[in-house]
Amino acid sequence: MDAVIGAFGYTGKYITRLLLAQGRQVITLTGHPHRPNEFGGQVKALPFDSDHPDQLANSLEGVDTLYNTYWVRFDHGTTTFSGAVRNTQALFRAAKQAGVRRIVHTSITNPSLDSPLPYFRGKAQLEKDLQELGVPYAILRPTVLFGQEDILINNIAYLVRKFPFFAIPGDGEYPMQPIFVEDYARLAVQISSGKEDCTLDAVGPDIFSFNQLVELIASSLGRRLWLAHLPPSIALQLSRIIGWWMKDVTLTWDEYRGLSAGMLISSQPPTGRTRLADWLAANASQVGSRYASELERHYR
Ligand SMILES: NC(=O)c1ccc[n+]([C@@H]2O[C@H](COP(=O)([O-])OP(=O)(O)OC[C@H]3O[C@@H](n4cnc5c(N)ncnc54)[C@H](OP(=O)(O)O)[C@@H]3O)[C@@H](O)[C@H]2O)c1
Repeated sequence: MDAVIGAFGYTGKYITRLLLAQGRQVITLTGHPHRPNEFGGQVKALPFDSDHPDQLANSLEGVDTLYNTYWVRFDHGTTTFSGAVRNTQALFRAAKQAGVRRIVHTSITNPSLDSPLPYFRGKAQLEKDLQELGVPYAILRPTVLFGQEDILINNIAYLVRKFPFFAIPGDGEYPMQPIFVEDYARLAVQISSGKEDCTLDAVGPDIFSFNQLVELIASSLGRRLWLAHLPPSIALQLSRIIGWWMKDVTLTWDEYRGLSAGMLISSQPPTGRTRLADWLAANASQVGSRYASELERHYR
């Protein structure tokens, strides 16, 4: 039996699909046990409540691999990065108490304890906690993930479909190296059978500047697009207006800072094979046809 934290979310769903296809039994610990999901009764949902550590450990009793994808994208209301760090630390301790064989943990490229960005700092803290826990582990560090339900690439496509121009914060030359979500899930499941502790970047075969990424999405959709390079504060203001219009948070300052600081690429060889251009060509009719809302997914 395996546990996938985030089985009803984006990446976790793909890991869960693979595990079920291999005949594995899967449970999840979740803050939203009643959220509709594609697995029906196949995935047992138990509460993810870090205030009850013994209950967490009981829930993980008999689990072979714990796949953790739980994290939050930004502080919002009572949901915070520091809370997500505490919840994940409680999860790690519970896994140890329950005798979990291996933890496959999802981090991010270039995490750092000194980072001014709480996303990257929190991820670095959790890597350190996991390395010191005493449970065998694999840490995977993805960049941007793309696939049917991703937010960033889908929502760029959504805006490209709606407007003849696209506001780019700054010069747009900052790089990113997206990985296909199904390649990521395969890697996670493969690495679960490894014996060695390891930390590995999970990145796709291509590096794009943000400008190239937006242009690629536009050309895949057959759209002509004018890239408007704006001072970051103005572009972020525009993204706030779009967020207000879509009742969502589209891009935060910290996310822009992470992007523009070149945090979303790797110096290691690619671990994913699927090319974004090929995927976009195959999915052009769907990508961006509906806006994907972070707040809708996690707060309503
Ligand atoms: N998506 C990307 O492009 C990307 C890029 C780099 C790294 N990552 C990392 O990959 C992992 C998975 O990302 P993802 O996009 O697949 O995540 P996700 O589906 O948005 O979230 C994974 C799980 O975390 C919990 N969660 C997320 N936001 C929450 C909130 N605001 N409040 C409470 N719980 C929340 C949810 O669990 P429940 O609803 O079951 O409680 C959700 O199923 C994360 O660790 C992320 O840092 C993602």
